[in-house]
Amino acid sequence: MSAPSIVILTGAGISRESGLATFRDADGIWAKVRIEDVATPEAFRRDPMRVHGFYNARRAQLRDAALQPNAAHLALAELDGCWPGDLLLVTQNVDDLHARAGSRRLLHMHGELMKARCGRCEAVHPWAADLSTGTPCPACRQTGSMRPHVVWFGEMPLELKQISAALDRCDLFVAIGTSGQVYPAAGFVAEVRGRARTVELNLEATEGSRLFDEVRYGPATQTVPAFVHELVQSL
Ligand code: APR
Repeated sequence: MSAPSIVILTGAGISRESGLATFRDADGIWAKVRIEDVATPEAFRRDPMRVHGFYNARRAQLRDAALQPNAAHLALAELDGCWPGDLLLVTQNVDDLHARAGSRRLLHMHGELMKARCGRCEAVHPWAADLSTGTPCPACRQTGSMRPHVVWFGEMPLELKQISAALDRCDLFVAIGTSGQVYPAAGFVAEVRGRARTVELNLEATEGSRLFDEVRYGPATQTVPAFVHELVQSL
């Protein structure tokens, strides 16, 4: 019997205990700034420096040495390293904590804060520094066209074909630290339920909890290592 094929979806909740704010909690990012002002193509056209300022501040947080992957990121990286079956970690997060924890079979469906893209030549570059309208593209040298390599509301998420293929063949779907309010990620559980075991690991009930076979409540740094331990013991 080959090991089950696993798809894991993570959201902002998995990075909360590393010190990064979520989006929709009471102290979340969208309680402080409006999506329409900083996270849409229209906002970028209207006031690019305001959008750059928003992402520059979040990118600077990732450069802070105090910000480290937590036990949940590390447990998923351990699973990635030892799971003999198919495994894909799909994150909605734009932070780099999964990669820094050691996850390799990883897709960022909403892009990555530590990358920048040229709106003219589409080249994507690793980027840890600030961005501005004066930043030249390293590839085509054009200024005024560099943007965060992050998917804004109204734009298509990345890698959807690969994600859909993984969902089609998965035996286990686990959603961790996501409120289940933003599609297409929020629709993944409905795609697989009935033919895959579905588990939600979250701090509290979400919009999608009723769609899961099993929901475990608690902080990710407790629920994720425990769940990973059970999976590894089942090998
Ligand atoms: N452990 C586990 N879950 C937690 C923790 C924690 N320590 N802290 C918070 N959570 C849960 C919250 O209860 C909530 O259900 O994480 C979830 C975070 O939900 P959101 O803030 O909506 O974040 P997310 O689901 O990732 O948002 C999806 O929306 O704004 C867009 O592009 C953005 O990728 C983001 C997408």
